Amino acid sequence: MAIQDELKRQAAEKALEYVQENEYLGIGTGSTVRFFIEALAQSRKRIKGAVSTSAQTSEALKSFGIPEVTLNEVNGLPLYIDGADEINHLLQMIKGGGGALVNEKIVASAAEKFICIADESKYTSRLGHVPLPVEVMPNARSLVARRLLKLGGEPELRLGFTTDNGNQILDVANLNLNEPIKMEDAINNIPGVVDNGLFTHYSADLLVLGCSSGVQILT
Ligand code: 5RP
Repeated sequence: MAIQDELKRQAAEKALEYVQENEYLGIGTGSTVRFFIEALAQSRKRIKGAVSTSAQTSEALKSFGIPEVTLNEVNGLPLYIDGADEINHLLQMIKGGGGALVNEKIVASAAEKFICIADESKYTSRLGHVPLPVEVMPNARSLVARRLLKLGGEPELRLGFTTDNGNQILDVANLNLNEPIKMEDAINNIPGVVDNGLFTHYSADLLVLGCSSGVQILT
């Protein structure tokens, strides 16, 4: 296994310690989450059901025999577990590399606690080294792209990709994210934007970071 994958796996396994038995659990999307689902299935911990954030995660839950419930069936969630594309010391994140950011933010907002699981390459002193994914309504794509240019970004359509919600993703490079809360809000104020991958209002509460020196817990 590649070193980065091994660190993701270690973070995912450590996060199992925070899972409460016989409770519902929100589960994000991505390769780190896939390691988590695998570890959960192999552990003795039994949850009531998982709220999934993507077709990809639902497929993984099914293949590992973990029961799925919809968000509408639960009265909130004690815990949400997900990965990130970048995370800073305030545990603000850029997410959406897997294109599931809208459902991820919805489920994160329903949870009392958000635990981010990641390998050390995702930890950064400043957000913005990776392009920011923005989910847009297809009919507003060009309009939104022009507004994103005005905000200083360089939007690029994610080719051949449609989100689970039937929308498109613009990956926006070179945005100034020195004030990420303002940028998250400014982008979401553009008509036609469904949501963007900045998670500042729903930042993580705890980061389980797989490092070559061992797993670190950051709050
Ligand atoms: C999906 C996400 C993922 O959490 C993010 O892309 C990290 O993925 P990985 O665990 O594969 O590195 O936001 O929309």
